[in-house]
Amino acid sequence: MEKKSYLIPFQSIGESSIGYISVAESAQNIPFEIKRVYWTYFTPENIVRGRHAHRQTEQILIAVAGRITVTVEAADDPIPQVFVLDHPNMGLYIPPSVWHTMQYSHSAVQLVLASKEYDATDYLRNYEEFKQIWSLKN
Ligand code: TYD
Repeated sequence: MEKKSYLIPFQSIGESSIGYISVAESAQNIPFEIKRVYWTYFTPENIVRGRHAHRQTEQILIAVAGRITVTVEAADDPIPQVFVLDHPNMGLYIPPSVWHTMQYSHSAVQLVLASKEYDATDYLRNYEEFKQIWSLKN
């Protein structure tokens, strides 16, 4: 059984009168050691990004501003799940071997915490290959 995607609620430290801080820390609330952080922004609303799975990289997506609609499909489960990230205190864990696509609201800023450094060979960008590789492995 492959790992599943799930939401990670971050604590909102503070209050409305002074604002909030949320914290991601490897040994605390992140299920891997963070090796890379990247962020995406100004994505037009009609664009679907992602359309890939990773061989090994684990990631956590956070909509630090705006709204991100993430569709995930696990290699061993053909029924896609849709997660809407619309609050900066919520993260979505995406394990390896999960096909994912993202759509962004106009003002969305996506923060991503990743378990590995960037490596183009870690990407599976062909959907048929993604399904085939994981069915052969299991
Ligand atoms: P990609 O991961 O395909 O973006 P998305 O899933 O949002 O559609 O990456 C887009 C481009 O950015 C691609 O040319 C690779 C490059 N890139 C890096 O150089 N380093 C990175 O850490 C990431 C995530 C992407």
